[in-house]
Amino acid sequence: MAKHDKIDVGLSTILNPVPVVMVSCGDKEGRSNILTIAWAGTVNSEPPMVTISVRKSRFSHKMISETGEFVINLVNKSLCKACDRCGVISGADEDKFSSCSLTAVKASGLSYAYAIKEAPVSISCKVKSVTELGSHDMFLAEIVAVTADSYLLDDTGRLCLDKAKLVAYNHGEYFLLGEKLGFFGYSVASDEVFEKRMGFSRKDRDKYKHIREQGEKNGKKY
Ligand SMILES: Cc1cc2nc3c(=O)[nH]c(=O)nc-3n(C[C@H](O)[C@H](O)[C@H](O)COP(=O)(O)O)c2cc1C
Repeated sequence: MAKHDKIDVGLSTILNPVPVVMVSCGDKEGRSNILTIAWAGTVNSEPPMVTISVRKSRFSHKMISETGEFVINLVNKSLCKACDRCGVISGADEDKFSSCSLTAVKASGLSYAYAIKEAPVSISCKVKSVTELGSHDMFLAEIVAVTADSYLLDDTGRLCLDKAKLVAYNHGEYFLLGEKLGFFGYSVASDEVFEKRMGFSRKDRDKYKHIREQGEKNGKKY
């Protein structure tokens, strides 16, 4: 069989990779919780809007429904283990902020939900609507504030998310983001812009491509 001959692999949620995030929330009595979410997505730019899909059975579902608030905390390498734990243990059984040694801090722009201090970026969200999809309820929310760790900003105040060592989720496994392959529009960018953004020239990339490919074949990581 040839490499690109197609085989039907059945229906599943195979869209990959996806972000994996730690969603934090709180109730009106001051309790806080975290759950891990892979079904999250950006769905609008102006105003900035996101969705998260949460099963009704989750402890967090009630908190988010009650307050209409949650925080999406991006996950970096240091948070990965805690992220997994928050996705396999329920807040009904343990205080996950405490068991994962995480700090609950007031979330910018929200009244009840807490943010995770140790997260590199926290996105405060207010729920606009809830749609029952079947297994999951989809919370559509507007982003009302975003905070980032100071080390992620350069001298001009620009957010450099590439410094955050973020984690992606691919078919049931966590991966650290690796090699930068390009940037928005790099396929049509001038050589000058390409070099400025990538740190090396297009010519050099092509010149050494065969060496890299050979190295990769021999198991070398670039
Ligand atoms: C990688 C990963 C991704 C997950 N994604 C989702 C999701 O998108 N929606 C959901 O309802 N549960 C998801 N879960 C499961 C919940 O995070 C898990 O049931 C958690 O314990 C619920 O916490 P809670 O009961 O304190 O709310 C995921 C778990 C893992 C490990």
